[in-house]
Amino acid sequence: MDNNQSLLEPIQLGDLTLKNRVIMAPMTRSRADNSGKVPTADLQGKYYQQRASAGLIITEGSQVSEKAVGYVNTPGIHTKEQTEGWKEVTKMVHEKGGKIFIQLWHVGRISHPDFHNGDLPHAPSAINPEAKSYTPDGFKDTVTPKEMTLEDIKQTIQDFKNAAKNAWEAGFDGVEIHSSNGYLLHQFFSSTSNKRKDIYGGYKQNRARILFEIIDEIKTVMPENRIGLRLNPSLHEIFGMTLNEDTIPTFDHIIEKLNNYDLAYLHLSEPFNDVSDVEHAETEIAKRYRPVYEGNLIINAHFDREKGNKVIKNGDVDMVAYGKPYISNPDLVERFAENAELAEWDEDTFYTPGHKGYTDYPKTEEEVEV
Ligand SMILES: Cc1cc2nc3c(=O)[nH]c(=O)nc-3n(C[C@H](O)[C@H](O)[C@H](O)COP(=O)(O)O)c2cc1C
Repeated sequence: MDNNQSLLEPIQLGDLTLKNRVIMAPMTRSRADNSGKVPTADLQGKYYQQRASAGLIITEGSQVSEKAVGYVNTPGIHTKEQTEGWKEVTKMVHEKGGKIFIQLWHVGRISHPDFHNGDLPHAPSAINPEAKSYTPDGFKDTVTPKEMTLEDIKQTIQDFKNAAKNAWEAGFDGVEIHSSNGYLLHQFFSSTSNKRKDIYGGYKQNRARILFEIIDEIKTVMPENRIGLRLNPSLHEIFGMTLNEDTIPTFDHIIEKLNNYDLAYLHLSEPFNDVSDVEHAETEIAKRYRPVYEGNLIINAHFDREKGNKVIKNGDVDMVAYGKPYISNPDLVERFAENAELAEWDEDTFYTPGHKGYTDYPKTEEEVEV
C-alpha cells in the first residue's frame, strides 16, 4: 500500500470535498440505446457506481437539446424522462460515496442531417469540418453546417441553462461545460471555424462571448462553484480544428477571464497528438496556464499513476483526469493505492451497445461479471 501519493490526497472544490484527486474523464459510450436517449440504472447507473471511488466522475458528454446531438445513442439532459433517468444514476453513485458532474454537450458542426430529419447541423459559420460523424448508420462525412442566427445562439444558451437546471434537479454535484475537443463552443473560439461578422465573431472577446453568456445563465439556476468547464487549447487536425496565430491569445483571454468567476474547476487537456513541430502550438498546457488560472485545475491526456502524482506534486495542477484507464479499471484509485497493474481497455467495445466493455471490467481479484 502506497498512500503517500499526491493523487490520493483530498481536495476542496468550493463547498465540495473530493476524497482524492483522481478524476474520471468524460467519455462518450453510446449506451443510451433507447428512443428517449435516457440513461438507465442497469447500464449507466451500474457503470458509474462501479467507479465511485474516483474523487470525481465526469459523465459522458450529454446533449443539451435535440440539435446538440451528434453521436448515436448518447444520453441527453433536456427532457423530463432523461432527468428522471439521471436521478437514478446520481443516487447510485452517491450511495457508494462518489461525486458526479455531468458534461453538457453540443457538437455543433460534428453532427449530421441524419440526426435532424435532414436539416443541417448548427455551427458559428457555414464551414464543413471535413470530419466524420457517428450516425445511426455508421460513420458518415460531415456536411457544410448552417450558420447560426442570433436567435439560434440565444436558444442554445437557453438550452445549456435548461440542461444545467435539469442536472441540478437530477442530483448531480455539478456540471462541466464541454467547451473543448472541436465541438460547438470550441468552434466559436477558433478563427478558422468562426468567420462571423457580428458580436460572436472577429475579436477574441467576441469569439469567446458565447461561453461567458452560458456561464452567466447557468449560474442563475445552480451554484457557480459547482460549474466546471473543459478546454483543449492545442487540439490540432482533429474534428477540423487547426491552430493559428489567434489560438493562444484566445485561450489566454478565456482563461484570464475565468478568474472573474468562482468556478469548481478548469479542466485542461495537454495536446492529444504531437504538436511539437506545429506553428502556434502550446506544447505544455498545464505549465502555461497554472500561473494564469487562480482556481482549481484538472489536467488530462496520457497520464499514468507516476506522471499524475508528479504533476500535482510539482504544483502544476490540482487534479488529474484519466480517460481510457477508467474504462478498463473501475477500481483505478485502489489500483493506484496498491501500485497494482492496470487492465488494458478494449477499443473495439468503445462505442458499442450493452454491458460488454462497459460494466463487465472486473475490479482487481474479482471474477468477471456476466
Ligand atoms: C471512448 C472515448 C470517448 C470520449 N468521449 C469524450 C466526451 O464525451 N467528452 C470529452 O470531453 N472527452 C471525451 N473523450 C476524451 C477523454 O475525456 C480524454 O480526454 C482522452 O481519452 C485522453 O485521456 P486518456 O489519455 O486518459 O485516455 C473521450 C475519449 C474516449 C476514449
